[in-house]
Parts: sequence; C-alpha cells; structure tokens
Amino acid sequence: MSSSIEAFIQILLLFLLLPSSICQLHLDALTPDRPIRDGDVLVSNKQIFALGFFSLGNSQHRYAGVWYNKIPEKAFVWVANRDNPVNDSYGVLSINGDGGLVIHGKDLSTPLWSANVTLSSPHNFTAKLLDTGNLVLLEDGSQRVVWEGFDYPSDTLLPSMKIGLNRRSGLEKHLTSWKSKDDPGTGSCTCGINPMGVLQLFLRKGREALWRGGPWTGHRLSGTAGDYNSSIVNNEDEISFAYLDSEITRMVIDESGILQGFTWKDQWIKFYSYPTGWCDSYGQCGPNTNCDPAKDYRLSCTCLPGFESKSPRLSLGEGGCIRKAEASACQNGEGFVKVASVKIPDSSTARVNMSMSLEMCRQKCLMDCSCTAYTSADDRGGGIGCMTWHGDLMDTRIFSDVGQDLYVRVDATSIGMRRQNKYSFDLTAGSTYFEEATGGLVPDDSRINSELLLFHLNTVATATNNFSIENKLGEGGFGSIYKGILYDGKEIAVKRLSKFSGQGVEEFKNEVLLIAKLQHRNLVKILGCCFEDEEKILIYEYLPNKSLDCFIFNETRRALLSWTRRFEIILGIARGLLYLHEDSRLRIIHRDLKASNVLLDNSLNPKIADFGMARIFRGEQTEANTNRVVGTYGYMSPEYAMEGLFSIKSDVYSFGVLLLEIITGKRMLVWELWKEGRAVEIIDSSIGECYLVSEIIRCIQIALLCVQEFATDRPTMSAVVSMLNNDAALPSPRRPAFLLKTMSPSGDSSSNRGVCSVNGVTCTIVEAR
Ligand SMILES: *[C@@H]1O[C@H](CO)[C@@H](O)[C@H](O)[C@H]1NC(C)=O
Ligand SMILES: *[C@@H]1O[C@H](CO)[C@@H](O)[C@H](O)[C@H]1NC(C)=O
Ligand SMILES: *[C@@H]1O[C@H](CO)[C@@H](O)[C@H](O)[C@H]1NC(C)=O
Ligand SMILES: *[C@@H]1O[C@H](CO)[C@@H](O)[C@H](O)[C@H]1NC(C)=O
Ligand SMILES: *[C@@H]1O[C@H](CO)[C@@H](O)[C@H](O)[C@H]1NC(C)=O
Ligand SMILES: *[C@@H]1O[C@H](CO)[C@@H](O)[C@H](O)[C@H]1NC(C)=O
Ligand SMILES: *[C@@H]1O[C@H](CO)[C@@H](O)[C@H](O)[C@H]1NC(C)=O
Ligand SMILES: *[C@@H]1O[C@H](CO)[C@@H](O)[C@H](O)[C@H]1NC(C)=O
Repeated sequence: MSSSIEAFIQILLLFLLLPSSICQLHLDALTPDRPIRDGDVLVSNKQIFALGFFSLGNSQHRYAGVWYNKIPEKAFVWVANRDNPVNDSYGVLSINGDGGLVIHGKDLSTPLWSANVTLSSPHNFTAKLLDTGNLVLLEDGSQRVVWEGFDYPSDTLLPSMKIGLNRRSGLEKHLTSWKSKDDPGTGSCTCGINPMGVLQLFLRKGREALWRGGPWTGHRLSGTAGDYNSSIVNNEDEISFAYLDSEITRMVIDESGILQGFTWKDQWIKFYSYPTGWCDSYGQCGPNTNCDPAKDYRLSCTCLPGFESKSPRLSLGEGGCIRKAEASACQNGEGFVKVASVKIPDSSTARVNMSMSLEMCRQKCLMDCSCTAYTSADDRGGGIGCMTWHGDLMDTRIFSDVGQDLYVRVDATSIGMRRQNKYSFDLTAGSTYFEEATGGLVPDDSRINSELLLFHLNTVATATNNFSIENKLGEGGFGSIYKGILYDGKEIAVKRLSKFSGQGVEEFKNEVLLIAKLQHRNLVKILGCCFEDEEKILIYEYLPNKSLDCFIFNETRRALLSWTRRFEIILGIARGLLYLHEDSRLRIIHRDLKASNVLLDNSLNPKIADFGMARIFRGEQTEANTNRVVGTYGYMSPEYAMEGLFSIKSDVYSFGVLLLEIITGKRMLVWELWKEGRAVEIIDSSIGECYLVSEIIRCIQIALLCVQEFATDRPTMSAVVSMLNNDAALPSPRRPAFLLKTMSPSGDSSSNRGVCSVNGVTCTIVEAR
C-alpha cells in the first residue's frame, strides 16, 4: 500500500473515532479530507437532494444513498453499496486514489463498495451532489466529471437520468429492482431499453420480458399514455431514454417487476403503473395475436388477420397464432388489413426508413414476402416514415386512446374474411373479389362484395336476443341455428358455429366462400357473415317453413305435401345439385345432402343448405379422398363411408336416398318390394291426391339408380334431371349398396289406403287421422 494512502487512512481514522453525534455535518461537497461519515449529510446546491447513510425497517445494515432532502416520506432514489451494507455505525464514503469513491466500515482493509476509478492524485478531486440527484466526482481544475452515480442506477429513474447504452464505452444503464422493501440489494427485475431496432423500454425478470414500452414513435413510447416529455437519443454514440419533468417525480421498478411513476403532492402519489392489466403483459396471447383489454381476459386474445390459432386445443396464449394453412400471402393477391389503434408489435427486429411515406412503405412491404406488417415510424402529424416487421408479430394489444394503426399482411382470402369492429380493409389492386365499403342494408355493417355483408357481432347478438334459446331453430353441422330479426325488421337465419369445434374454421371458410359465389334458386342464399373474437357466424335468408325433414317425417305435416309438390321439390333439389356439380363456375361436391339440409321457402320451393362440408373440385378432377369422413350415415355412399372416396356420384347416392324418403316418408325395404314388383306399396299414404303411378314408379326407379353400389353405375345429376323431365326408357337398377332399412317400425300405413283409378290416373284415398 502506498504511503499516501496510509496517510489518508490515518486522517480517516481520526474522523471515524469521533462519536458521530457530536460532529454531524451538512456538507456541500465531498473532498479527500472531508469524507461523509455515517450521520453526515451531503446536500445539493438548492437543497433538493441529500446523500448520507441510512438503514431500512428493523435492519442494522447501513447504506449510503440519495433521497429527496425536504420530503419527509423518504424515498431512496440511489443507493451506492446496495449489495454490501455497512453493519456497524462506522460507515464512511470517501475519495481515494484506488477506487475514486469508496465505502468502508470499521474494517478498513477492503472497501465495501468502490466506484472503481483510479485517481492519480486524489487530492485534486471533489464529489458533489447535483440538484438532479446525481452524485458526481469532478476533477477540480477542469471540472471534468470522472464518475457519476447516474451511470449506475438503482431502482429509480429520476428526471433527466438516462437509461440506455453508450455505444462507445459499452456501458449499459438500466434500473434494477430492490430485493425487498427493506433490502435495496440487487433484485431480479430490470427496466432497460432494447438497443436493437427502434427504441423500446423493457421490463424483465431475469431474461423473461414482463412488459414492453414502445417502440418510440415520435412523441411517446407505443403502449404508454399520458403526456411526458422525453429525451431520446439514438445515434452512433448512444441510444438512451430519459424523461424530463420539473415536478418532483420518480419512476421506480419494484421487486415484482412493476414500473411505477410517483409524484409528490403532500404525499407520494402513484400516477402510472406498467404493466396495466392482462393484455399489457409481454406477449400475453403468443405470437401474431391481438389482445383486447375491453374483454374478459379469457376472451381477450384473437389472432391477427390472416392468422389462425396454432392449435385449437391450446388456449391462444399458449401457442399463439400461425399463418393460415394453405393461405399464401406471397405474390398471390395478398394485401393488408388495418388493425386500428394498437400498441404496435415488438420492433426489436423491425426496419425503419424515415424518408418513406406510408404509401411507399406499403409498396415496399408488399414487394417483400418476408414483410409481415408495416406502419408509420413516427406517429406525429398523420404519420412519417416507414417501419416494417419481418417475422412473428409479438405483443400487440388494442390501445384505444393513443394506439397506432398497424397494417398486417394477409392472404387474398383473408382480406374478405376479416372485418372486426377494429379492422377495416386496406386493399391491393391485385385483390379481385372484395372491396372496402360502408353502409349496406344494415346499419353499422358493411358489404364485402356485391352479395355478402359483414355483420358486427353486436348486430347479430341483438337480432337473436343474445342467441337465446327461444330463437334457436335447431342444430346444424358444427353449430346451432337461430332466428334473428334485423333493425329493419328483416328476418334472418343465423348459423353460429360452435366455438370449440376444431374443424369449424375450415368448414366455415369453405361455406362462406362457396356460398357467396353460388346463385341458384334452389340453393339457400347467404346474406353475410360475422367473424369476431372466437365467433364464426353465417347469416342466411330466413326460410319460415324450415327443412324438408320437418315435413316428410311428421305425420301431420307430410299431408301438406301432395305428389305434385313432392315432385316439384325433387326436381328443385335435382336442379340445385346439378348446378353445384356442373353448372356453376366451380365443381362442388356437397357431401352432406339430406332432408334436414333442404329448406323450404314460403312457396315450398326447396333450397339446398349447409355447405359446411362441401368441397370444390378443380379442373378435370372428379373424385378425391379424405381421411376425415364427414356427412350423415344412411345418406353416405358405400365408397365414401368405407374408403373416404367422394365424388359427384356420392352426392347422387345421397340424392337417391333423399328421393326415396320423399316418396315413402320413411326408409323402407324398397329394394325387396321393387324386386317383387310391389314398389307402389312404399308410396307415402299422405301423398293424398291424384297422381300418375307411373310417375312415382319412375321416381323410385331413378332413386334406385342413384343408390347403386358402384359409383360408375349411378347417373350424373344432368342425367337425373333429364330422366325426371321426360319419359324415355330408364335402365334397370342393380342391387343397391345396402338394403335401406326402415327408421320407424310403425311406419307401415298400407292398411289406411285404397287405390283407385280415374281416367288412367291413380289416386290414393287417405283416411282422416
Ligand atoms: C460485520 O461484517 C463483517 C464482515 O462481513 C463480519 O465479520 C462481522 O461479524 C459483522 N458484524 C456484525 C456486528 O454483524
Ligand atoms: C467495482 O468493481 C467491483 C468488482 O469488479 C464490482 O463488484 C462493483 O460493482 C463495481 N462498482 C461499481 C460502482 O461499478
Ligand atoms: C493536482 O495536485 C497536484 C499536487 O497536489 C498539483 O501539482 C496539480 O497541479 C493538481 N492538478 C490539478 C489539475 O489541479
Ligand atoms: C419539455 O422539455 C423541454 C425542455 O426542457 C421544455 O422546453 C418543454 O416545455 C417541455 N414540454 C413539456 C410538455 O413539458
Ligand atoms: C429509404 O427510402 C428511400 C426512399 O425510398 C431510399 O432512397 C433509401 O435508399 C432508403 N434507405 C435505406 C437505408 O434503405
Ligand atoms: C346481451 O348480453 C349483453 C351482455 O351480457 C347485455 O348487455 C345485453 O343487454 C343483452 N342484450 C339482450 C338483447 O339481451
Ligand atoms: C310456410 O310459412 C308461411 C309463413 O310462416 C306460412 O304462412 C305457411 O303456412 C307455411 N306453409 C306451410 C306449408 O307450412
Ligand atoms: C308435426 O308437425 C305439427 C304441426 O307443425 C307439430 O305440431 C308437431 O309437433 C310435429 N310433430 C313432431 C313429432 O315434431
């Protein structure tokens, strides 16, 4: 040890041995010959801040730190020896050559804390406490600052104090929480800035991000509210954040990682706290999601447009969302959907170009398939510059007051699919079939193409009395159907897909896109749809007379269906199916044709409904295979039920089954009776009117042709329509796939029937029931 230091220590000892109570000093500077001993207080020029030794709670540990001088409720804004307290009353903070500033206890051999600056000649240095709360070590002559406390923050950010990175020295400044209220030791939570990309503030526990403030978008950190005056530096020397305030304020990270702002108004008042609520925690819903704090937390997570839940079995938060399967958003008619008023995503890997307009930004993002979203880099004055994201979009939440609009890349299909309360469309020239528009038939809902309306969930909920049980019409494939009445009195049928059916999404997309394109008097007309939150809802024209099964399987109602009516219904269904198979621009296999999927309008015209399981065939394709056999047993062709093989001929099979049901009112041993030439016996007694026996027999024969075992033997729908419409000879049916069994054993009503013939026309006479 050098002799100068020995001399210094001796001077020090002199001070130390004096009882502190006798010579407590208020100093304005710390000099080599005037250290701060436990009990002394170093005060800033305007007496705003004070520095001295203190202890907390019942602890005997002594810490040297800074507090607001005149505020009775002490808040320790900076602590020097936070991890090495003095455990006696001999603590001293002094200037020396080997460390610059050091703290010792009674044991002078090793310092408990050191500023770690080596001073060649300590007598030339003075330490001062500034009115900002910064303890600085100055070289006397030059007033050069050789060390400052603000470079080593504790848990508190004071006005003008910077956190960030000095790019030249590599010094990184961040706040670190205390261990506990009574222990200012280095805790596990930090508040610092991310030096990558645009400036963002991060609260972390260890490495885990707890909250993100930012990115900085010109006048605030995205996702933070309130007016604050900040100083942001981002140049080759440093990247830093500081806030400016003339009031007495402090920003503190507590032991649990919550960042709080306090101001003194006769007491410390907390005026902000982050994170605020469920949605505010970093990445709460996982990648590519949006979190809506206005919703119950269980419902707050939604996928960003163009994305779908990674796994329907996991809650969104666990897996987040992924780009929709089979949806290409790369040079395939993609565009952007505006997600309005959000805290924009984590910008750690975002790219910024301040000389681009928002329109240029959009073009740049569109050209680059890796670009997932864009927005203005500076939110002021309607937006300046360009920020683009090139990967998963993390930590987006709705921030209704001061959020920014984000434009998310979506595939062409999703442009039409998505329009929530907070989304609107941003269209590309390449996108052909949806256009942005407002207005339409229904207040507050918009048209997304000439035929289809997008309904808000609110509208649908109001129309259906909140999906009340009284409005429920029945259960369909993957969901329930409700009757609804719109504001203007128009009646609608609302199909609400069950939320937790993992299959729903795919079927839903199918149904909307299919039906929107189909126009035929024998197909049910879709009016619109609603995609909001987890809800997937289809809105159809309302058909008051319900479905065909309500008639043909109901003893009372089937009497309303005369043969003429039934024949019209058969022909209508055949035409609708023919349109699906051959006459529309697409080749569509319905896959679930059955009596309950044929609705009747006021005039009892049949309309095929429920396209949830339909498949589009492209080009010359005529059959396909699926691992997932959907449909209704009894209507399913053997090759489909057993091998998953479906084609237009599997629909023909279902049509055949339906035809027999319409004729018989039940499923019976048709084949046996047919073979025995007793087919007429299966005719529903309720047909109750004059009819041509030959016409019904012809229909039965057509039905049997449709249900033949081998798909190749079955006629096409155009052949069926032609057979129904003329009297040309029909081929003989081969044995059907399996014997059609009766559903209701009580169905035999032949005893109630007599047959007579008038002018070559056979009539059935039905007894009253
Ligand atoms: C103070 O700390 C020193 C070193 O850590 C230790 O040896 C000593 O026992 C402590 N004294 C008291 C009173 O806790
Ligand atoms: C000084 O150096 C020691 C040992 O490397 C370190 O533990 C301590 O935190 C440093 N002090 C400051 C103020 O950086
Ligand atoms: C520092 O102190 C030495 C001796 O005490 C003196 O010679 C020198 O001029 C001083 N330097 C400054 C910058 O004050
Ligand atoms: C922000 O700070 C600057 C510089 O101190 C000051 O001129 C300005 O008035 C402050 N603005 C607000 C809103 O406090
Ligand atoms: C920023 O955009 C302008 C205008 O498009 C362009 O000239 C410039 O090269 C871009 N800068 C960078 C770094 O990409
Ligand atoms: C529907 O439910 C919401 C929330 O539960 C309620 O505020 C609203 O009044 C309900 N509306 C009707 C028509 O029942
Ligand atoms: C069909 O519905 C309309 C309107 O509800 C009703 O007037 C008519 O009687 C119904 N027809 C049949 C056959 O049920
Ligand atoms: C049959 O229809 C009548 C008239 O609509 C209805 O009252 C009755 O409940 C129906 N029967 C069954 C079993 O659904």
